[in-house]
Amino acid sequence: MSRKGSEESSGAKHTPSRQELLFVSDNIHKYEEVRAVARELGFDVQLMPGLKLEVQSDSIEEVSRKSAILAYLLVGRPLFVEDAGLYIQALRGFPGPYSSFVYRTIGIEGVLKLLEGASDRRACFKSVATVIYEPFIVVGHGEVCGFITDRPRGSRGFGFDPIFTPDGSEKTFGEMSLEEKNRFSHRAKSVYSALSRLKKMMEQSG
Ligand code: IMP
Repeated sequence: MSRKGSEESSGAKHTPSRQELLFVSDNIHKYEEVRAVARELGFDVQLMPGLKLEVQSDSIEEVSRKSAILAYLLVGRPLFVEDAGLYIQALRGFPGPYSSFVYRTIGIEGVLKLLEGASDRRACFKSVATVIYEPFIVVGHGEVCGFITDRPRGSRGFGFDPIFTPDGSEKTFGEMSLEEKNRFSHRAKSVYSALSRLKKMMEQSG
């Protein structure tokens, strides 16, 4: 991207150590989750809040990719973004890409109301992480499926964590420590997928 060239010629280019990465988000919980995954792979992740990227799309992959590119054009340093959504089977995938709007408007109680009396409570969280580390752009996908509970349980995490139990656990994400959630979560998978492939590419390129 051209921004790199202009910064090099102005002498203002930030030269990061190979492991430094910014995580562009206003969500401290997400940051804590991704930092733990990234650390295992040898990356040192710093939070960059406040960019207000406002990318809208029906696809979380598009939001993730466009947000990363926009952020990179603004910041010009190695970074990644992550976008996620909750896809509820009985609601034909709703709220999906509109999860943050639905959380802010009807919230957990509203989602439980929509599912009142529903026998099918299957749902999946999906996540797409996009990392830009020139010359590489790497996209990682992650998914975890499970059930929406009848009532909220646990006060950890954020968003819909108190009403989602992943397959293979009795606990909701809201009842799990960060380490436990990361063993199941869509975000841990997408970030691991993107960063492990980035790491290989960096090693191969010397
Ligand atoms: P975002 O656009 O990636 O911030 O995610 C959209 C919305 O999905 C968030 O506001 C949360 O309500 C919900 N969400 C995404 N990931 C999670 C998660 O790991 N746990 C609980 N809710 C989540």
